[in-house]
Order: sequence, then C-alpha cells, then structure tokens
Amino acid sequence: MATITLLFFLFLQLITATISTTPLPYNATVYVLLNCGAQSATTDETDRRWDTDTHFPNFLPSDFSNISTTATASEQDPSVNRVPYTTGARIMKSRFTYTFRVSPGAKFLRLYFYPANYSGFNKAESFFSVTANHLTLLRNFSALAAVTDSSKALRKEFVINVDETQILDVTFSPSPNSYAFVNGIEILSMPTNLYIHGNHRIKLVGQNDFFYINNSTALETLYRLNVGGNLVGSTEDTGMYRVWDSDDAFVVGYGYQTPHFDVNITYTSETPPYSAPRIVYTTSRTMSNHSQSLDWEFPLNSGFYYLFRLHFCEIQPEVLEVNDRVFDIYIGNQMAERAADVVEWSGGWRFPVYRDYVVNVTNPDDRRNKQSITLQLSPNMETKAVYADATLGSAYSNAILNGLEIFKLGDAIGSLAASNHELPSEAPIASLAFPNNKKKRISWHIIVAIITGVTSGIAFFSILGFLISRRRNGGKDSGTSVTKSSSPPSDLCRHFLIAEIKNATDNFDEKFVIGYGGFGNVYKGYLDNGTTTVAVKRSNPSSKQGIREFQTEIEMLSSKLRHRHLVSLIGYCDDKNEMILVYDYMANGTLRDHLYNTDNAPLPWKKRLDICIGAAKGLCYLHSGTKHMIIHRDVKSTNILLDDKWVAKVSDFGLSKVGSVGGTDITHVSTAVKGSFGYVDPEYYKRQRLTVKSDVYSFGVVLFEVLCARPAINPNLPSGQVNLAEWASRSCKKRELEEIIDPNLKGQIAPECLSKFAELAYHCLRKEGVQRPSMGDVVKTLESALQVQEGEDHEVEGSSFPLIINGDAMNEDEIFSDLSEVERKLTSNGISMSVSRSAKVNNVALFSEIITPLGR
Ligand SMILES: *[C@@H]1O[C@H](CO)[C@@H](O)[C@H](O)[C@H]1NC(C)=O
Ligand SMILES: *[C@@H]1O[C@H](CO)[C@@H](O)[C@H](O)[C@H]1NC(C)=O
Ligand SMILES: *[C@@H]1O[C@H](CO)[C@@H](O)[C@H](O)[C@H]1NC(C)=O
Ligand SMILES: *[C@@H]1O[C@H](CO)[C@@H](O)[C@H](O)[C@H]1NC(C)=O
Ligand SMILES: *[C@@H]1O[C@H](CO)[C@@H](O)[C@H](O)[C@H]1NC(C)=O
Ligand SMILES: *[C@@H]1O[C@H](CO)[C@@H](O)[C@H](O)[C@H]1NC(C)=O
Ligand SMILES: *[C@@H]1O[C@H](CO)[C@@H](O)[C@H](O)[C@H]1NC(C)=O
Ligand SMILES: *[C@@H]1O[C@H](CO)[C@@H](O)[C@H](O)[C@H]1NC(C)=O
Ligand SMILES: *[C@@H]1O[C@H](CO)[C@@H](O)[C@H](O)[C@H]1NC(C)=O
Repeated sequence: MATITLLFFLFLQLITATISTTPLPYNATVYVLLNCGAQSATTDETDRRWDTDTHFPNFLPSDFSNISTTATASEQDPSVNRVPYTTGARIMKSRFTYTFRVSPGAKFLRLYFYPANYSGFNKAESFFSVTANHLTLLRNFSALAAVTDSSKALRKEFVINVDETQILDVTFSPSPNSYAFVNGIEILSMPTNLYIHGNHRIKLVGQNDFFYINNSTALETLYRLNVGGNLVGSTEDTGMYRVWDSDDAFVVGYGYQTPHFDVNITYTSETPPYSAPRIVYTTSRTMSNHSQSLDWEFPLNSGFYYLFRLHFCEIQPEVLEVNDRVFDIYIGNQMAERAADVVEWSGGWRFPVYRDYVVNVTNPDDRRNKQSITLQLSPNMETKAVYADATLGSAYSNAILNGLEIFKLGDAIGSLAASNHELPSEAPIASLAFPNNKKKRISWHIIVAIITGVTSGIAFFSILGFLISRRRNGGKDSGTSVTKSSSPPSDLCRHFLIAEIKNATDNFDEKFVIGYGGFGNVYKGYLDNGTTTVAVKRSNPSSKQGIREFQTEIEMLSSKLRHRHLVSLIGYCDDKNEMILVYDYMANGTLRDHLYNTDNAPLPWKKRLDICIGAAKGLCYLHSGTKHMIIHRDVKSTNILLDDKWVAKVSDFGLSKVGSVGGTDITHVSTAVKGSFGYVDPEYYKRQRLTVKSDVYSFGVVLFEVLCARPAINPNLPSGQVNLAEWASRSCKKRELEEIIDPNLKGQIAPECLSKFAELAYHCLRKEGVQRPSMGDVVKTLESALQVQEGEDHEVEGSSFPLIINGDAMNEDEIFSDLSEVERKLTSNGISMSVSRSAKVNNVALFSEIITPLGR
C-alpha cells in the first residue's frame, strides 16, 4: 500500500483582530479552521476565515481523486446556511488522514458535518470511524442518524491532548462499502488545565474515590449549557468559541425561576475569566416556591465515565453570605456533594466558581445503551434543623445553577465511541460506485503547521491572576505551618514503669476512677510516696487510639505545649504495651462541676471571670502562642479544669495531627464533625472544616454557661430555650440579659461588666467565623470586664474591641489582623462584604483530635 505523505504549511492568521475590540480573556495560540472540500477560502458570518484543504493543487498528486473528492450538497437545508456547511464537503472512500502539526497540550478538535446527498453520494450510506492519534472518537458513525429535526447539521467537539511529538492525526475510515465525509475541521488551543490537568483527580460520584483525568484521556463535549439563560454563541465565549446552549430542553419539572442580573462579577485565579463568559454566570436557574428541587435529565450512553462541570455564581442581592443558600447535589441519583455553598466555595458574592464530578454510568444489560441521567440540586436545611434557629441555619431553602458542561470520557482503550446511532429508517446500503478503483488505499496527509503565537495578553492575565491569588491568600501564612516534629519528649516528661503506676493507683482500683471515656478510664493516683497527686489516663487496649497518636500526644504535651493555663503532662508509661498518660491532678475538677447540677457552692462572679480569662488564655496560646496553630475542637465546660488554687487549665487538646499541606488537592482537614452537642460551631458542622473560630464559638457557649449556669443543651426546657447559644443570643439581642443570668449572681455583677461580658459571648457566637473575635480579643475583653468589675473606672489600654450588638461596628483591623481564614473586606459595586477564605481552610495544618476528656 502506497502512502503519500504530503506536507504543507498553512500560515493561518488569527482572527482576533476582526473580533470586537474588548480584549478576550483567552487568545488562542493555535487556531486552525479548515473548510474541507471548499473551492476557496471563505469567511464565515462571524468574520472568521476558513482555509480550504484544496487550496494547494500543486502539491496534490495526480491520483488524488482516486481516494477522495470534493463535492457540493445537492440539497441545502435553509436552516444550515453557514460556513463550512454550505461550501461543500470532502468525501473519502478510503482511510484518509489529516495530519496537523501543533504545539503540545490540550486542544479542542471540532468536526463539522452536514449530512446531505453530495454529488451522487447517498447520505444514508455514509458510515465511518474517526480517530485522533490513537483515540477513537467515532465508530461506524452516521451523521445523518445523529442530526435532529431542529438541527440538520452537527458540530462535534473533543478535547485531545497533543504530546511532545506535536502531531495530531485525524483519520477518517469509512465502514465497508461506505464512505466518509467532513465539512470542516477546527483546532483550537485552550488554557492549560482548563479541562485536563497533569494528573487531575476528581470526585467519583457515589463512591468514596477519585477519578484521574490525565493527558491520555480524551473528552467529548456532550452538553454545554447556559443554565437559565439563552444560547451563547461562539463569538460571545471567552475566546475559545464554545457554544453554550439554553438548558430548557433538559429541565424536568416546572415553575423554576431564572434570575438574571446584569452585574459585574469577580473572576478569581481559581475561576479565571476564560472559565465561562459573564453571561453564563449572571444567568441562573433557581427554585420557585413550589418546587422541592431543581432537576435536569440528560441522555447518556452507559459504559462510560462522564465529567460534570457545574458553574455557579451567587448574583441575587439577597444571597450574599455563607450559609445563605446551601444545597445538596445528586447526579444519577447519587450524592455528589453535601451542603454545597456557592459563596463559601467562591470566596464571596458575585464570585464565580465551578466544581467537577465524574459519574460512572453503567448498565449491565446493554453496555452502550442510552439512559437518562438526572442532575438534581435540592436545598440542605440540616443546619437549620440542628440548630432550630433560622439565624444559624441556611437562610434560603433553595438551590442555584448557572452553567453546566458534560463531557464523555474516553474509556480504558481510549475510545469515545458508542454503538452506532440508530438510522431513522432502514435504508439498504447499496454498493457504492466510487470513481476509480477501491484497491488502492492511499493516506493523504496534510500537515498543517500553525506558527502563530500571541502571548502578550496571556502574560497580562497571569499577572492579574497572581494579584488575585495574592489577595485571596493574604494572611494565610500564619495558618499553614505544619509540624513534622518527631523530637523525643523532653526531660520535663517522666517515663514511668507500669509497676509505679500500679502502685500509684492501687492496681487501677475502681475506687480511684475519676473519669470514664471511650479510650479507657482516668484514675486518681499518688506518686512519690503519696506526695504528688496525679490523674492517670489509661488507654483501654481495645481503644482505637493507636500508638502513633499516643506518641504524638506525649510529644505535643511534654515539650511543646507548656502553659500556665493548659493541663500539664507529668509523664507517660509505655511499659508492657500500656499507653498511659499522667497529668497534674486538678483538685477542683471541672468548671461545670461548679456551675450546675452540682452540690458545690456557686462560684462568685469574679472567680468565674478569672476562670474564663485563664481558659481564654490557654486557648489563645494554642491558637497563636505555639509554633503551630492548634485547634482544640472540643472546648466546653468539662474540658476546663481547676486546680487547687482555682487556676483554670484547658485539657484535652491532646492528639495533634499534621493536616494536609497547602497546594495539593488531596486531603484537607475535613473529618466527621467531632465535638460536643450544643458547642459545635455551625460553620464547622456544615463544612466539616475547622478553623480557630470554631473554638471561639464553643468558648462563647462556655461564657454563657458561666453567666447562666445552665447546660449548653437542656432538652427539658421549652423549645426556644433548649439550645443555650440560641436562647442567650436572642436574649442579648432583645437586651433581656437580666432574665438569663444565674440567680446566684444577682447583685454581684456591675452593669457595665455584664454588658461587656454578654456582648463578647454574643459575638463569639456569630454565625460566621469571620465575624467572631479572636481568642486574643476575647482575653482582652474579659480582662477589661474584670477591671470594670473591680471598680477601676478607666478602660484598659489596648482593649480595642468595641462591641456593639446589632451594628457591625467591630474594629475591622482588630478582627482581621490575625485571622488566617479571613481576607480583607472587599468592596465590590459599592457593597462592602466580608469574604471568607474558608474554602481554603483545608490548608489548615494542625488540628487537635478529640480525646475523651479527663473529667467527662
Ligand atoms: C488513480 O487512478 C488512475 C486512473 O483512474 C490510475 O491510472 C492511477 O494509477 C491511480 N493512482 C493510484 C495511486 O492508485
Ligand atoms: C439522496 O439520494 C438518494 C439516492 O440517490 C435518493 O433516494 C434520496 O431521495 C436523496 N435524498 C434527497 C433528500 O435528495
Ligand atoms: C454500521 O452501522 C450500520 C447501521 O447500524 C450497520 O448496518 C453496519 O453493519 C455497521 N457496520 C459495522 C462495520 O459495524
Ligand atoms: C501532559 O501533556 C503536556 C503537554 O504535552 C505536558 O506538558 C505535561 O507535562 C503532561 N503531563 C503529564 C502528567 O504527563
Ligand atoms: C492516566 O490515567 C489512567 C487511568 O485513569 C492510567 O492508567 C494511566 O497510567 C495514566 N497515565 C499517566 C501518564 O498518568
Ligand atoms: C462593570 O464594570 C465596569 C468597569 O468597572 C463599569 O464600567 C460597568 O459599568 C460595570 N457594569 C455593571 C453592570 O456594573
Ligand atoms: C410564591 O412566590 C410568589 C412571589 O415570588 C408569591 O407571590 C407567592 O405568594 C408565593 N407562593 C407561595 C405558595 O408561597
Ligand atoms: C464503573 O462501572 C463498571 C460497571 O458496573 C464497573 O465494572 C467499574 O468497576 C465501575 N468503576 C468504578 C471506578 O467503580
Ligand atoms: C488578546 O488579544 C487582544 C488583542 O491583541 C488583547 O487586547 C488582549 O489583551 C489579549 N487577551 C489576552 C488574555 O491575552
């Protein structure tokens, strides 16, 4: 078989100059528009110039027509009056390869088909396969079967990665006794990492697993929708000439709303301006008040994986903040995302964002059958249910979607081809009378080299992206340090033999037990001939706490975490596989023991303030006084212990772990929510992402416990009072403080001190972490409250945390100065909004895992 390779070089001109004057977010570096079978170069209705593949007759061999021909359609549907459909087709009787020489990287490959009778070729008799390099894009394909009544022509889009060989071979292979044809071929570069990343892992829906999209995966675009809006034509795209259809045809259900706001949106480095045009993000579909969920249905062939890219942007004036609109995402009836919150993901109101999911569409009966896959977004009101308070739960029972792209992913053998489309009618396939003999199969290669590069604009956008990225990451450093330490416990930490411990606890006698927990028991013990009293925490052999955690705790507690207001570790025992920790004994037990459900005498107000200040200092040290930020995660009144001199000591900050490191997309500190009911930060509950402000929230609950002397949750109370945080916050708002304070404190609290204290607690319970004070602020405010109480009239210097309930007159600099999870207030369109970086909190490096508390 003779193969003639014909090279020719096309110097295609980029068409950007002829497009509008507004700079495009993306300027193609490779752009091929080939009008196959056309007699001459043509300009389409968008002023793009299509070159013809018959442009170079001098290069064509004399037998060129033996395997292919150009032909014009004998019919032209009035709806299909566009280049390249109107300008003829290349008809191919044998295997025929176009070879394009393009730069490496992902490319759009678009094939244009208008099935018609071409100069004697019956459109019902065309079946062919198409490959791009080794990837099968279409197999025994009939363009006629693929078109619909409403659209008589077809544009198929693929995303193909071109490797270092810089060759993109597009091969058409007719099925036996058939022919292939094509009207146009478009090849376009795209921004790196737009759809294919180096080794891009994506959540696999319905499985606790990931799907990897890499260079060897080919994508076929099946649906690209401007949800809730109209068709967005190729020239309105971001420079990649993608077409965004209306989603009307796929919507299930009725009465949905389609909010549209002609506003500016703020693209980010994660969602750069080329991701989708503004019109996609500023049109949307939301639920009406009649619907339960938003539903779409898409026919998809089984036997493939599909990439769903969902585009979001909160544009409505009433949905401004985190937790305002929270919803779940289901694809193919499987949970893809729990508690999606667009503002949280994107970083703010009118910030766009997209999320990717991969779905395994299976059907055991018929491997490549089409089935309907649903996409459903339904409101998640869980936080609302848990906290029984609209101010803490999500504010709008609704969901939103702005854009959607669905791609079919090449299977294991690189094929995107499903079984042939059904022909509308059973047309007999006649033997073709192709001009000239069929024996000769000559590959006709065209190598098109595109040597055009427009890079200046790209540089501009890189810089913009850099600036955005810097802004968004402001203040991050303090929160991302990671411990790698494995230094041995310091001398401060004693190493006990099991015999010594047994001796101290009378062989772990029941009567020495002072606490129980999931890990084992806590015993009171006497060391050094009874001169030192200790608390001995002995891990149950069946406990889940492993040796590594045990060692980490020893290390963290002994050498790193030494503070007057933290319970200190005296030593440990790892003798005979025991895992025992020995702590200072806290003679006065837990703070709760002195607040309610107790026989102990009520604590006087000033003592309570002292204890709060001490505990706050301990937490402040954990958050910022150590080399690594440590989040306690289980702050509550039973984890604040009191020694014989009534000094407060925070306990149970033990098991510190190294969280994930920034940059990678792998793990983040997102674990099942732990903590104690009534104390858990609603933000943490919902996101399962932890910040220091989660501790601040819990501490706010403790402050109210101290003031009101009642449990965080008391199910026996009337419904509005069950949850202390909710009840006390509401009373603060209504300025009904007198009604909630512990009757034992009546007459003890100076009014100004009370209002400082209550306002502080109130602010600690703000629903967004961003709005809460830092532990440092808490300490300062409590100290100032104590001074007021002590009758010192003047305000303490530096206590600059003006708290005004219901007004947001908090000192911004103060609040924002030390926060790792907060950026600055951004001003957009004159509206000041706080932007939480909580979506980034997965970079938080260290967290403290709950260990069952000493005094529980
Ligand atoms: C092409 O066809 C012509 C006549 O139809 C024949 O002479 C010639 O050999 C063929 N060329 C090739 C390469 O098959
Ligand atoms: C296409 O060609 C076939 C065979 O020549 C013919 O039967 C058919 O009617 C033609 N279709 C149209 C729409 O012209
Ligand atoms: C291609 O599809 C047609 C129509 O479904 C079928 O008749 C034909 O046998 C197929 N050919 C191959 C090679 O699969
Ligand atoms: C993917 O392909 C691009 C372009 O050929 C190359 O730069 C990149 O290193 C490849 N990535 C991987 C993970 O192979
Ligand atoms: C790409 O991913 C496939 C499976 O998803 C894997 O088998 C293959 O090794 C990967 N290739 C590269 C270059 O990472
Ligand atoms: C968008 O921003 C530009 C430049 O800041 C401004 O000229 C334009 O009026 C804004 N459009 C809207 C709808 O706010
Ligand atoms: C639904 O919302 C519309 C306004 O958006 C309102 O007029 C109507 O009363 C609402 N219906 C119900 C049942 O709430
Ligand atoms: C996808 O579905 C197929 C067919 O059920 C199954 O064999 C395959 O293991 C699934 N893939 C994954 C990653 O679960
Ligand atoms: C694209 O090119 C145009 C015209 O040269 C330029 O104004 C624009 O800034 C470029 N955009 C990018 C993203 O490079």
